[in-house]
Amino acid sequence: MAAKKARVPYTAGTVASSTVEELAELAEDMLWFQLYRMPQRDHADGFDLVRRAQTAGAQALMITMDVPLRTKRPREVHQGLVLPFRMSPRTVADVLTHPAWLVAYLEHGLPRFSNYKPYVENPATPQKLAAYSNKDHAGGGAFSWEEVARYRDVWKGPLIAKGIQHPQDAEKAVAVGCDGVVVSNHGGRQVEGLAAPADCLPAVVAAVGSRATVLLDSGVRTGLDVVRGLAMGAKACFAGKAFLYGLGAIGGDGAGYVIDLFKEEIRDALRQCGINNIADARKIELRHPGRWTF
Ligand SMILES: Cc1cc2nc3c(=O)[nH]c(=O)nc-3n(C[C@H](O)[C@H](O)[C@H](O)COP(=O)(O)O)c2cc1C
Repeated sequence: MAAKKARVPYTAGTVASSTVEELAELAEDMLWFQLYRMPQRDHADGFDLVRRAQTAGAQALMITMDVPLRTKRPREVHQGLVLPFRMSPRTVADVLTHPAWLVAYLEHGLPRFSNYKPYVENPATPQKLAAYSNKDHAGGGAFSWEEVARYRDVWKGPLIAKGIQHPQDAEKAVAVGCDGVVVSNHGGRQVEGLAAPADCLPAVVAAVGSRATVLLDSGVRTGLDVVRGLAMGAKACFAGKAFLYGLGAIGGDGAGYVIDLFKEEIRDALRQCGINNIADARKIELRHPGRWTF
């Protein structure tokens, strides 16, 4: 709803707790969809989900290239987060001492991977949905470029490869028909040692920027980060955890609050650079000593 109000695209994930259809009702024409690999039945489930996203009105499809498996996430281990979600004594204590969480839990129950419901046997319990997801990610492997080409045939709108860091991969994405690439390291959630996307961005822009829309994702926390991304040639930037921090801090209004913060900071950063129009951000003179040359 915050995305729709602010006219900012919102990208729903495959493993979101609401279905793409439910999210489309809230975000309407601001909805994009990002797909994890669903190789079952020769990708029939994946194609079906993508068609559902299209029918629901999603405007763009991002194929997540950088999650061949679910890696160990030490902070999640430390917090006792397991799939399917299980209430530990600590979780129960947390929920009981946060009345808003308690109300949300009583209203919605435990989070579950709702998009997978049609693909598991009825009743679609959180256990079955988590098992379906775990099967995909435990050794399912990464999307191949041939598979991306098959999605190109199914998806009629803009197609974007997400999780690109190397200019040669960006070239491959364009070769199989992608309209854009997202330079991303998945917010550092997959592999600790990956390069910072901001360091790879200039090389990707140089390689495919004239033929494809290059977008930046991961580590974008402030409006200044957005302006820096645009100055380096990204056409737009994504933020993930910034919105979660807003939601965690002030609840349902958090997403709108973070959008307003971004807007204010973007405006300030542009003015500091003597620029009045966001389209001119590319003209900002740039010095980026950390960038990679491939
Ligand atoms: C809770 C959470 C769930 C996510 N789910 C997905 C997903 O389903 N598909 C996907 O491609 N990326 C997913 N991501 C990664 C984000 O799309 C994005 O790449 C990342 O959060 C960007 O980094 P940032 O958090 O530093 O902004 C998720 C991230 C978070 C924090």
